[in-house]
Amino acid sequence: MSTKTPWWIRVPVLFFLIFGLMEFFIDSGDKPAIIEYPITQFFLLLVLMILIAIELILASIENIMFQTLSEEGKERYLEAKSKKYEWTWAKNLMKNLTKSRSIEREGEIVLDHNYDGIRELDNVLPPWWVYLFYGTIIFSVVYLVRFHVIGDYDQAQEYEQEVAAAQQAIEEYKRTAKDLVDASTVEFLSNESDLAAGEKIFQTNCVACHTQDGGGSIGPNLTDKYWILGGGIKNVFTTISEGGRDGKGMIAWKQSLKPAEIAQVASYVISLGGTTPANPKEPEGEIWVDPNAPEDTNGTESETPPTEQVSDSTEVAMQ
Ligand code: HEC
Repeated sequence: MSTKTPWWIRVPVLFFLIFGLMEFFIDSGDKPAIIEYPITQFFLLLVLMILIAIELILASIENIMFQTLSEEGKERYLEAKSKKYEWTWAKNLMKNLTKSRSIEREGEIVLDHNYDGIRELDNVLPPWWVYLFYGTIIFSVVYLVRFHVIGDYDQAQEYEQEVAAAQQAIEEYKRTAKDLVDASTVEFLSNESDLAAGEKIFQTNCVACHTQDGGGSIGPNLTDKYWILGGGIKNVFTTISEGGRDGKGMIAWKQSLKPAEIAQVASYVISLGGTTPANPKEPEGEIWVDPNAPEDTNGTESETPPTEQVSDSTEVAMQ
């Protein structure tokens, strides 16, 4: 075997090559295959052992062949072998990038002035530095033309793009992490699909007591402004999640619904506000005003008519 690469390079390189190929071809979702399918760990172990075995076999074949050589052949062989693997390509690259003189030849470029024994070498500029410098010049020209002549985009636009991208990432995150909502973080979901999902949940679980249109039977009317347990998305979320007062029949739905689903059905309930059900149940509870946002106009729930109701709500607020 007259190969130049020593075994301690050959074995790891082959091993990681096979490792990489394995990871590339085995579809294991987010996690690497080696964690997703523990059997692959045995496979890699086997590969490693086979590689080592091949090396050992090659070494012993080499040894046997060596024994068959004549004395002269042995000598030549050993001589060739003692030339160790050298990083010739790396050394050449380094040399090309620096153009430095070897210490032995420095005498050729030493300058003739001499300050108290300190002398100067007239080295050429190292090519890596020179090309980097040319690179900066090209870059500056491109930059100048692109941003100061053509005016591709400016910092403000760049900032807006980044904010928009971040916003999108947040939306994406929220979509996958919806179940992180709780009563303190829940927001009204105005999204069509969320409301549709909420309606579906409502039709499956809630109509028995609140009727199809939320008008109420066993459970109270959900379309009016009167709430027993408080209106607004956060209170409604809490009521659905934790249930009503003991013995009234409204169970804690957190047992069977996920937080995201509760948020959807709560939003659907809020969206029922102001609709006219076929058989509305008598109002129960009190008119609810949002304490945080009395002038809030985007909430569907706080549509207090301007005049007559005002006295009512102030009464409630004072109690
Ligand atoms: C077994 C009958 C029953 C079912 C099913 C039921 N509820 Fe209720 N619900 C009630 C009763 C009774 C109350 C009143 C609780 C109280 O007075 O403490 C209530 C209260 C509520 C309230 C608070 C109303 C207020 O005025 O504060 C909301 C909101 C509500 N339910 C939503 C739902 C949703 C959403 C579902 C379906 C996931 C549902 N309910 C399923 C019986 C039911």
